[in-house]
Amino acid sequence: MALTIVTGSDNAGHGHKSALKELLENDPRVGKVIDVGVAGREDNELYPNIAVAAAEKVAAGEADRALLVCGTGLGVAIAANKVSGIRAVTAHDLYSVQRSVLSNNAQVLCMGERVIGLELAKELVKVWLDLEFDPESSSAAKVHAICAYDGSLDK
Ligand code: RB5
Repeated sequence: MALTIVTGSDNAGHGHKSALKELLENDPRVGKVIDVGVAGREDNELYPNIAVAAAEKVAAGEADRALLVCGTGLGVAIAANKVSGIRAVTAHDLYSVQRSVLSNNAQVLCMGERVIGLELAKELVKVWLDLEFDPESSSAAKVHAICAYDGSLDK
């Protein structure tokens, strides 16, 4: 089934966010893209507010995943992970992107515009769209333990 994906960034990540949003909007694996800002480089909304708004949509079941960009990809991941039920990672390489879903069932991928080139980011996002967590895998008990800790088991 086509994915609903939330995109978001602060002004430091707006360039990559816009390009990746366009990529998602043109990918047949994506049914809907919900952008939670920022609207442009001159928009100074703080990254924690953007990241939490995106993560809350995923936690509420309004979206399957979120793709967040800031300068480093670190702040947005820290903020998104404060939302119960959210597993957000910063990943700029193929293996980490793959394992974020296959091992950790992460719903939120975070990248840093000051860290990764746009073309590599695009390729990683294309791979990310095909990844699916296997609830029968040996990783399931570990993800279950995370959810038990943050009280999101029934979400
Ligand atoms: C710029 O504000 C920078 O601190 C931010 O984009 C992000 O990298 C924080 O983690």
